[in-house]
Formats: sequence, C-alpha cells, structure tokens
Amino acid sequence: MKKTILILAVVVSTLSACTQKEETTKASVGTQIIEDLSNRYTSKAYDKTKRVSAEDLATIEEVLRLSPSSINSQPWKFIVIKSDEAKQRFSNTFNKKYQFNQPHATNASEIILFANKIHYNKEDFKKRLDASMAAGRMNQKGYDNMLTKAFGFAEMVADENGNNSHWTKAQSYIALGNVLHTLARLNIDSTPMEGVDADEIKKEFAKELGDDYECTFALAIGYHNGEKDYNRKLPKARMAKEDVIIEL
Ligand SMILES: Cc1cc2nc3c(=O)[nH]c(=O)nc-3n(C[C@H](O)[C@H](O)[C@H](O)COP(=O)(O)O)c2cc1C
Repeated sequence: MKKTILILAVVVSTLSACTQKEETTKASVGTQIIEDLSNRYTSKAYDKTKRVSAEDLATIEEVLRLSPSSINSQPWKFIVIKSDEAKQRFSNTFNKKYQFNQPHATNASEIILFANKIHYNKEDFKKRLDASMAAGRMNQKGYDNMLTKAFGFAEMVADENGNNSHWTKAQSYIALGNVLHTLARLNIDSTPMEGVDADEIKKEFAKELGDDYECTFALAIGYHNGEKDYNRKLPKARMAKEDVIIEL
C-alpha cells in the first residue's frame, strides 16, 4: 500500500512539473515575441564592415519564400543585392530623390528589393497550382476549381487592362512583415524603405525584374553604426492599445 501511494505521488508530481514547464515555456515564447518587436527599430546608419552570415541570409530568404499570400498567388520576386557592384547599381537609383536612404545602399550588408507582378494572370497562377499539385496538395478537380473560382478573385481586383498591382503589392508587404520579425529574432538591424525611386529601379534592374514587375519598396539589412544610428536610442512610440485594439 505504502509503495502504491509513493508511486502515485511521483506520477502526480511529475505531471504537475510537466504542466508547469509547458506554462513557463508558453509564457516565455510570448515574452520573447514582445521583446523582439519592442527591440526592433528602423536603423538609420549601418556599419559597412559588418556582414550578415550566410546561414542567417539563407534563413531570411526562406522566410520570404514561405510567406503567405492571397490564393497562394506568390506574385513576387525578391532581389537580394549582395555584391559591391549590385550595391552601386542600387545606389545610382537615388540620383533624383530619396537621398536620405542612399547611404544604406552601400553601407548595409544586403538590400532586398521587393518586386510585385503588375498584371498577375492565369498563366502565373497556373505555375503556382502546378507546384501545389506536385506537392500533393490537390487533385485535378481541385486544380480546375482553383483556376476558375480562386483566380476569379485576382480578376475581380484587376482594372480593365488586367492591372492588379495594388493587390500584388499588398501581398509583398506580408513578406516584409514576416521578415522584419525574423530579423529582430536574429538580432539583425533593418530599414524598410518606401523612399526608393521605382522608375529608376525599373531602369537599373530591368534585366532582373523582367517586363511586368515593379519594385516600390526595399529593405536594407545589416548591423547599425554605433555612433551614427540616432534612432537606436530613441524610445519606441506607438498608439495606446485602447486606440487601436477593439475587443468585442
Ligand atoms: C513600409 C515602410 C516603409 C518605410 N520607409 C522608410 C524609408 O523610406 N526610410 C526610413 O528611414 N524609414 C522608413 N520606414 C520606417 C518607419 O518610419 C518606421 O518603421 C516607423 O517610424 C516606426 O519606427 P520603428 O520601425 O523604429 O519601430 C518605413 C517603414 C515601413 C513599414
């Protein structure tokens, strides 16, 4: 009898320790997420001598690829500028405007150009569906259904010329949001930049973008310059919870 009670006591204490551990782990994940997002900020100056590791860059590229998008359209291309030559080409696109962002072109470790399709069409969508078929996500009936019904959404948001770039651009911003958190997690500094000259980028990167892509924003990544990055020391400023969150 004594032995049974002892065994029961051990089982109960082990179970309760497991539940406690689970709760602690859950709490620390939440804390970690808030810490990541509180610590991340927009860097205003980079240390040219510091480079993102190949391993971290591979993670960042995979995060971009894995980003979700409406009807799994993936209407994007991400051009990762690594070499000095490509950085110089990007720097040249600031000749007319947004010069405040220009130093990042050559001082950041990498710059990612987010490009979105301007006329996302049925042929583009077919390629995504082919990949879904190959991954075993759907059969022929599902494929046909997606091509007629789901694609109707991309058609519905297009103008009379088939331009649905406002919708494809919105998808690219999801990838930006995803990667901003990843960068915070990896302790890599970053600068999202809408201050880029889309027309100049279109000319300079015509070959890489192809005919029907536009780039209206980019992201610089790397490590801040301790002396020049004034933004790092400033407190985070956001609207109060009650101004932006409505719980019903
Ligand atoms: C889509 C987007 C575009 C932005 N464009 C620029 C930019 O061109 N140059 C810049 O210095 N900061 C840019 N920012 C940074 C914002 O000003 C910054 O995120 C905002 O003030 C909040 O500050 P925090 O990122 O430091 O938390 C951009 C941010 C986002 C999300």
